Amino acid sequence: MAEIIGGLTSSHIPAIGNAIANGLQDDPYWKPFFDGFPPIRNWLGEKKPDVAIMIYNDHGLNFFLDKMPTFAIGAAHEYHNADEGWGIPVMPPFQGDAKMSWHIIEQMIEQEFDITSCQEVKVDHGFTVPIQLFWPDRGPDMPMVIPVCANTVQHPIPTMKRCFDFGKALGKAVRSYPENKRVVVLGTGGLSHQLDGARAGFINREFDKMCMEKIVSAPEELTKISRHELIKQAGAQGSEFIMWMMMRGALPANVTALHENYHIPISNTGAGTMLLECQ
Ligand code: DHB
Ligand code: FE
Repeated sequence: MAEIIGGLTSSHIPAIGNAIANGLQDDPYWKPFFDGFPPIRNWLGEKKPDVAIMIYNDHGLNFFLDKMPTFAIGAAHEYHNADEGWGIPVMPPFQGDAKMSWHIIEQMIEQEFDITSCQEVKVDHGFTVPIQLFWPDRGPDMPMVIPVCANTVQHPIPTMKRCFDFGKALGKAVRSYPENKRVVVLGTGGLSHQLDGARAGFINREFDKMCMEKIVSAPEELTKISRHELIKQAGAQGSEFIMWMMMRGALPANVTALHENYHIPISNTGAGTMLLECQ
């Protein structure tokens, strides 16, 4: 049977893609951020997961405000990247596990999560930047991917509780897959940030740290945060934290935080990196 071995979190800021393209990992601005990744890459090198479920949000490349699914799951053999306007290098296609995708889609519907199934999805920086951070050379150990997309952009966005419950159903769906596969689940985006309006540049370190603590040992407490409170505390684009909740829901109650790193600011954002190993 398939097994979820851990959860990873990372920021997806396009400027990270630019820093990688320009080899700035040791630059004093970037080093404290990039230093958060080698221990997680070592763990991935040791565990060699077969599949990475990429929970991310589309930023207007594949879905736009006119048609915005609350939750969508990719079911393709291959996913293509395009640049929706940040000017970062376009990455070669990613290999999907369409068979496992369809199993997950089937099982999500069975559990009454009426997701949108997508046989074609163009992936943006929300998907590619975390892959570049965790699998920079995309060598033979690069897992197959399954994109899971959440609406963080067009209100009403899903609640923290719904996202956590989605994760629980996702975890159950993965664990019922009959093939022996090791799976990691990525919750990407966040942490606090606001890119526009009167609060542009807003970052809430205290709230971010609280979220990083509670997501390990008391994620249910976070489900009590309303969407309005989330935006107030984390900024308009801090809504991306809902994808961390989806990731956490897919993991068992007991996890060990093997590694974490928090650094501000990276671009306009509080950048949180975590490795949660399933016990
Ligand atoms: C930034 C953050 C994001 O979440 C994003 O999608 C684009 C840019 C930023 O902080 O620069
Ligand atoms: Fe974003």
